[in-house]
Amino acid sequence: MTIDSGFNHITVLLDEAVEALALRADGCYLDGTFGRGGHSRLILSKLGPQGRLLGFDKDPQAIATGQALAAEDGRFVIVQRSFAELGSEVAERGLAGKVSGILLDLGVSSPQLDDPERGFSFLNDGPLDMRMNPDQGISAAEFIATAPAEEIARVFKEYGEERFAGRMARAVVERREKQPFTRTADLAEVLKVANPAWEKGKNPATRAFQGLRIHVNNELGDLETGLEAALDALEVGGRLAVISFHSLEDRIVKLFMRKLVKGEADNLPRNLPVQHKVFEPKIKLIGKAQFASEAELKANPRSRSAVMRVAEKLR
Ligand SMILES: C[S@@+](CC[C@H](N)C(=O)[O-])C[C@H]1O[C@@H](n2cnc3c(N)ncnc32)[C@H](O)[C@@H]1O
Repeated sequence: MTIDSGFNHITVLLDEAVEALALRADGCYLDGTFGRGGHSRLILSKLGPQGRLLGFDKDPQAIATGQALAAEDGRFVIVQRSFAELGSEVAERGLAGKVSGILLDLGVSSPQLDDPERGFSFLNDGPLDMRMNPDQGISAAEFIATAPAEEIARVFKEYGEERFAGRMARAVVERREKQPFTRTADLAEVLKVANPAWEKGKNPATRAFQGLRIHVNNELGDLETGLEAALDALEVGGRLAVISFHSLEDRIVKLFMRKLVKGEADNLPRNLPVQHKVFEPKIKLIGKAQFASEAELKANPRSRSAVMRVAEKLR
């Protein structure tokens, strides 16, 4: 596999995210979403000889780039796993509770979206796949071919926030009975015809495609598991920075952090007598939600939906 596929990724909130980690030269850091290594390279440039960085990605092309970086820099290691599994990875490496900072820059990279062969794009025709790791799980084509209409509608509605999910799912099921879907453009065309309310400036298949992508890659499930695992992996004083690209992700991050700021008492019935310790926060928030600057928005339109939240582990 070639490392440089010709598709580039412009890192979002590069300086802001690395600054948020409050790096210590000899610290041990974790980049849960290596991508093309924009954040990782800047982190490494600030670490000393004793510093370490562990990268994760599901995507084989990201892993190839990461392996090339690891060959150049002995402080860096990359693994092809979901960050949802970071708990067992850090435990195997004897790093549980010892990680100084964790970064999650969620979602897909530009090379994944732009390369039609990856099957994410409704604009450029390609095989209907959408898996970040094409060797794991089922492709979008398999899901669309086998799932009941109600399940397809749920995915469009819950993960794509598509108002006409039911109608669009029925159109998909009707068509697949005559001919299965194998290409992104074919599916996009059927969704487009079934969508009665086109939003200005938005392809009518956008929401359904987002829903499919999130489902096929278990993006929200991985995020929930990954956040819990990240908290356990961090040392006291360690930082967690998460960049989200849509409201479903950001909501999970926001609620997760809010729960830990309030302490466990959040889950208890209101009138129950509890020890003071139960109310002690597990994290503190570092600043408010951060967005891309005007200059970044101009230079990289994909940064417009980015929001970063940062927390520090207290106990
Ligand atoms: C927005 S890009 C990250 C870009 C990266 N920060 C950079 O500067 O190049 C997201 C990357 O995370 C990967 N990814 C998404 N969810 C993942 C997960 N649960 N586990 C591991 N990698 C994941 C994707 O394959 C993609 O390469």
